[in-house]
Amino acid sequence: MTHHESHSFLALVAEESNDTYTQTVKKRKLSDLPGHDVLVRVHYSSLNYKDSLSATGNKGVTKKYPFTPGIDAAGIVEQSADKRFNKGDKVIVTSYDLGMNTPGGFGHYISVPGDWIVPLPEGLNLKESMIIGTSGLTAAIGVEKIVKQHIAPKDGFILVTGATGGVGSFAVGLLSQLGYSVIAATGKMDQTGFLKSLGASEVIHRDEITNVPGKPLLTGRWIAALDTVGGSMLDAVIRQTDHNGVVACCGNVLGHELHTNVFPFILRGVALMGIDSGIALMADRMRIWNLLADEWKPRFLEELHRETGLQNLTEEIQKILQGKQVGKVLVNVRSV
Ligand SMILES: NC(=O)c1ccc[n+]([C@@H]2O[C@H](COP(=O)([O-])OP(=O)(O)OC[C@H]3O[C@@H](n4cnc5c(N)ncnc54)[C@H](OP(=O)(O)O)[C@@H]3O)[C@@H](O)[C@H]2O)c1
Repeated sequence: MTHHESHSFLALVAEESNDTYTQTVKKRKLSDLPGHDVLVRVHYSSLNYKDSLSATGNKGVTKKYPFTPGIDAAGIVEQSADKRFNKGDKVIVTSYDLGMNTPGGFGHYISVPGDWIVPLPEGLNLKESMIIGTSGLTAAIGVEKIVKQHIAPKDGFILVTGATGGVGSFAVGLLSQLGYSVIAATGKMDQTGFLKSLGASEVIHRDEITNVPGKPLLTGRWIAALDTVGGSMLDAVIRQTDHNGVVACCGNVLGHELHTNVFPFILRGVALMGIDSGIALMADRMRIWNLLADEWKPRFLEELHRETGLQNLTEEIQKILQGKQVGKVLVNVRSV
């Protein structure tokens, strides 16, 4: 990348000061970005749990600071040395190393390898793509795993845990739209109206799932589950999944350890399936984005999101860290 290297732009910068991490909107230069093949002018990003870890100094996510987080970005190609992309193309970039150790979507520009880029599918605009973002993509990968195991709406309830979170709320909306009866489990019963507006059939307190006897198998309450919480929640979810059911899991909000037993698997044929949107193959990524732009195009994006600019992200980051976020936070990167 040679053009405009002295050109400056705005970005949220996380940095250490007096043993704590702050996030401030600052000027950066294009020369501060890595010299990858494609320079993208970012229009929208979205807030994910991982961004809050990066923004607050979690070295498991981001090694070097000052750093601009943002694992999601949608925008317009400004300059490309990769033949597959031209100036003016609308594109989506999510995961890989973006927002981890490659400066991310909370800035006006990103510089990325062409291999990380998904052309914006017809049927979605930049804003819609970022209301979906990584959390929507993750939820959709989980939903596809459930669908591919031949779980049909008539087979029973589908449980979603962490239901008001980014992944959870999208999963509630998408599964409901596809005709499934969804049980939304949440710690925020005051958000029952929100979860019902996304289509949930039932809203239950998350303690109802975990406050159960420690028996290896419990009455089957759902035929499938999308768990975003992990730890003791995932253990309790597996033990209450019905015969030949499916549990798709993606999160570790309650910790990374899983204590379980073999009976749900060998006596009920339950399948436990992991979701990793970070390393999803490009072909799978494209298929899911195309589904989300067409057959699975979410009809609940308005209810799902709130919009904010870079200036207000610190507050939103604290909220997501405390598990207080509801739905999706869309970041209108150009509004500052
Ligand atoms: N594997 C992947 O590819 C992938 C991709 C994206 C995200 N993730 C992971 O998935 C998880 C969810 O991500 P997200 O972006 O949706 O985060 P999020 O918006 O913060 O949602 C997490 C939700 O978990 C629930 N929760 C919070 N504290 C809890 C507790 N102590 N006990 C039980 N539930 C609790 C809350 O929902 P309620 O109040 O409604 O219960 C919260 O909204 C994170 O662990 C994230 O790292 C993984």
